[in-house]
Amino acid sequence: MFPSVDPVNTSSWNALEQHFEEIKSKTLVSLFAEDIQRASDYSVTWDDFFVDFSKNHITTKTLDLFDSLIQEIGLEDAKKSFFDGEKINQTENRAVLHTALRNVSGKPISLDGEDVMPLVNQELFKVRSFVNRLHNKDIRGYSQRPINQIVNIGIGGSDLGPNMVVKALKPYQIEGFSSHFVSNVDASQMTEVLEQVDPETTLFIIASKTFTTQETMTNANTARSWFLKHAKEKHHIAKHFVAVSTNQQKVIEFGIDPDNMFLFWDWVGGRYSLWSSIGLSIACSIGYDNFYQLLAGAHEADNHFKSAPMRHNIPTMMALIGIWYNNFFGCESQAILPYDHLLSFFSKYLQQGDMESNGKYISRIGEKVSYQTGPIIWGEPGTNGQHAFYQLIHQGTKMIPCDFIACAQPAHPYTDHHEKLIANFIAQTEALMQGKNEQQVIAELEAQGMDSAQIKSLKPHKVFQGNCPTTAILIKKLTPNSLGKLIALYEHKIFVQGVIWNIHSFDQWGVELGKQLAGNVLRDIQAEKVENKHDPSTQKIIKMYLDFRSQLVDE
Ligand code: F6P
Repeated sequence: MFPSVDPVNTSSWNALEQHFEEIKSKTLVSLFAEDIQRASDYSVTWDDFFVDFSKNHITTKTLDLFDSLIQEIGLEDAKKSFFDGEKINQTENRAVLHTALRNVSGKPISLDGEDVMPLVNQELFKVRSFVNRLHNKDIRGYSQRPINQIVNIGIGGSDLGPNMVVKALKPYQIEGFSSHFVSNVDASQMTEVLEQVDPETTLFIIASKTFTTQETMTNANTARSWFLKHAKEKHHIAKHFVAVSTNQQKVIEFGIDPDNMFLFWDWVGGRYSLWSSIGLSIACSIGYDNFYQLLAGAHEADNHFKSAPMRHNIPTMMALIGIWYNNFFGCESQAILPYDHLLSFFSKYLQQGDMESNGKYISRIGEKVSYQTGPIIWGEPGTNGQHAFYQLIHQGTKMIPCDFIACAQPAHPYTDHHEKLIANFIAQTEALMQGKNEQQVIAELEAQGMDSAQIKSLKPHKVFQGNCPTTAILIKKLTPNSLGKLIALYEHKIFVQGVIWNIHSFDQWGVELGKQLAGNVLRDIQAEKVENKHDPSTQKIIKMYLDFRSQLVDE
C-alpha cells in the first residue's frame, strides 16, 4: 500500500527541526575540521558515477534522522507500490510505470493482473525496425529520396526529454541525419525549422500523449499544410508523417494511418515518457542501439534505487538533502549547473520533471499542506553561469543549494579546454564552501599596496562568507548509458521527495486552468470583441491587443 503520512507529524521531522537548531550555525568548513573522513563518508561511487555529498550541511546525526524519516514515512512501501504497478497516480487512477519501459531485464511487470512487458517490447520492436529501415535508407519520401531529417513536433514531456537527450548525445548523431524540435505555438520556431528542412526528405513526428494539445496540433497542421504545398498530393502524407500517442482515434482523425502510429499508454506520464516511443526522435537521431543503451542505463539506476541502502542511494540522498534545505533551511530554489555544453538543456528538462511533479500544495489526502513542497529548479551550463548569475550564489542574500555536474572524459579532443572547464567545476564547489575571510582579504589588498583607508572601505565587498552547499556529480563519460542513469537518478529523487511531502507527484492539474482560459480569450480574439467574462485587467489587455493589431494592419 502506498503510504500517506503527514511528514511534519513524524517524530523524525520534529527531531530534524531540533537538529537544525544545533547545526545551522556550523560552517561546512568546521564540519570538515571535525571529521577528517567526511569526503569519503559522504560520497558515493557507483559504476561510472562519483557523487560528493560532503559539501552539504549534514552530519552522521542528520543521516540517522533522514533514515528514521524515511522509515516513518514508509518509503520502502511507496517504492514497492511504484515498481509493482499499483495505481499510485490516484487522481487520474493510473499506475506509474515508466520503469517498465526500460526494464531491459524483461522480467514480467504486472498491471491489473497482466504482464505489460509483451506490449512494451512489441512497441520497442516497432521502433527498432522503423529506425533500422530509416538508417538503411529504406524509408523514402514522396520523390523516392531517402528520409534524412526529422522534425519532432510536441511540447512538454513530448518535447523536452527527447530534445534534451538528442542535444546531449550529439556526438552519437547518425551521420548525414539531422533532427529538429518544434514545441512553441509561436510560429517563429516552426518558420525557423521549416527554412532548414527539405519537404522531400523530412519526416514529421507528431508526438503527443493526448493528441489534443493546442500547441502541438496547431504546429502539426501548419507542418502538414507546408508539406502539401510542396508535395501536392494528399496521399504523400503517409510517407512523411508519423504519430506517437496514446490516442489512436485522434491520430486517425488527424489523417495519420494507424500503421504509422507508435503507441504508448496512459500509465506513462508525459514528463517520464522519453523512454517510450516518445523517444522515437532519439532513436532516429542516435540509432536504436544507442537508444537501447539509454534505457539500459536507466534500468541500472532503477536497480540502484531499489536496492542501495540510504547512505549509498544516490537519488534518496539527493532527495533528503533537498528536503533538508527546502523545509529546514528555508531555501526556495535549487540550481542545476552542468559543466558540459552537451547538457545545456538538462536544467530546462528537469524544470518540467521536478516542478510539474512536485509543485503541489494539496496533500495525498486532499488537504492543504502546512510545509513547503517542490523547489524552483533553474540553471545554466558552467562556465557561462559563472559570468552571469554566480555573483548572487556567492554573495547574495539567499542560500541556493547547487548540483554541479561534469564528465571526466570529453566528447572532443581539446584537452586544454576540458581541463579548464573541469578546474572551474571543482573550484566553484571549493569557493562556495570556503569563501574568503577578512584576514585573507586584508592580506591580499595589502599585497596590492593599498593603504588602510582603502582596505577598510573595500574589505566588506571582497569578503565571501562561503558555506554555500553543493553536490558534485562526476560522470566518467557522457554516453547513452550514463545519460540514462543520470536522468533516472533525478526522476527517483523527485519520486522520493513527493513521497515525503505526501503529494501526488504524477498528476498535473495545475496546468489545466490556463489552457481553459486561453480558449475563452482566443474566442474573444477571433470574434474581435470581448464577449467572455474577464476581470477588468484581462479585458483591457485583450482590447489593447485588438487595438494594436488593427493599427498594424492599417499601417
Ligand atoms: O501541459 C502539461 C502537459 O500535459 C504535460 O504534462 C505534457 O508533457 C504536455 O502537456 C504535453 O502533452 P501531450 O503529450 O498530451 O501533447
